[in-house]
Amino acid sequence: MRLEDNLAKILIPSDRLQARIYELGAQISKDYGDARPLLVCVLKGGVMFLSDLSRALSIPHELDFMAISSYGGKRVETSGVVRIIMDLNASIERRHVLIVEDIIDTGHTLSYMVDTFKARNPASLKICALLNKSERREKEILLDYVGFDIPNEFVVGYGLDFDELYRNLPYIGVLKPEMYS
Ligand code: IMP
Ligand code: MG
Repeated sequence: MRLEDNLAKILIPSDRLQARIYELGAQISKDYGDARPLLVCVLKGGVMFLSDLSRALSIPHELDFMAISSYGGKRVETSGVVRIIMDLNASIERRHVLIVEDIIDTGHTLSYMVDTFKARNPASLKICALLNKSERREKEILLDYVGFDIPNEFVVGYGLDFDELYRNLPYIGVLKPEMYS
């Protein structure tokens, strides 16, 4: 089976992803300077983005990981019910925290994370999302850094999955609607 055959099109090719991540890295490096930010990756979708973004930063920074669930199995709609599956390794108190997310869709997942993190008293809390599907937003959230604004289509690749597959594709593609309808 070739995963590529289930795609309607490539939305963002690999070279555009990398060029934009390089720009984000330069901006974030400039904004944080010597503040030694802690980049928090939201697993599993954010893992490709985090690893490329980290390499695009020219400043000292730390990484940590958190796993959250909002989807189950083959569903393409968020349930709105969010659960921490794996928490951070270290305290974020008085740290400059940058949440690194693959995609903001309805905003429920991120909004839950922001509330959870704020209660832990970080020195600052910002959000960096590779993709933003603003049409679908149900919870208003300020995004500090956004890679690409995308239309309301179900996308896969570069960390994003459908039924746990497609994460390895080096680009962002649109899944054929017949795959999930
Ligand atoms: P939200 O809570 O609706 O904002 O959903 C956020 C999470 O849903 C993301 O972190 C993704 O894991 C997943 N998600 C939302 N849209 C897509 C998509 O188009 N493709 C794959 N996963 C998605
Ligand atoms: Mg995610």
